[in-house]
Amino acid sequence: MAEFNVTINGEKRRLEVDPNTPLLWVLRDHLNLPGTKYGCGVAQCGACTVHLNGNAVRSCQLPISAVADNEITTIEGLSENGDHPVQKAWLEHDVPQCGYCQAGQIMSAAALLKNNPSPSDEDIENGMNGNICRCGTYTRIKAAIKSASD
Ligand code: FES
Repeated sequence: MAEFNVTINGEKRRLEVDPNTPLLWVLRDHLNLPGTKYGCGVAQCGACTVHLNGNAVRSCQLPISAVADNEITTIEGLSENGDHPVQKAWLEHDVPQCGYCQAGQIMSAAALLKNNPSPSDEDIENGMNGNICRCGTYTRIKAAIKSASD
């Protein structure tokens, strides 16, 4: 066990956990933030995507010791009232089917648009290609990202 300081969704938190604990489990089991999902556990599906200092990362493969003293944002902290432009576009385009991967999809899309506010189709495909959706909502995901872009 070791102590870590992290800033989660703008709030400073102090934790005592095993240094090898993946951020995903710290979020879900220690901080009661279940919006970030477990899919594959090996950084291949994107369900566990959060922001680390504003960039999309896979929380299932990031030990807490590697992210201490950094700023982490989860789907719960992306906006005050679910009104981030990507979240609004998701509603407009009725994107989710089962919904399981969607927090990760939204976090990846928000990071993509922050770094590239006017992405081409190719930019969207490249930026989102690590986020898998078993329901195949890719067409709606792309349309929503397009409509949230400048
Ligand atoms: Fe982390 Fe699949 S659960 S990428």
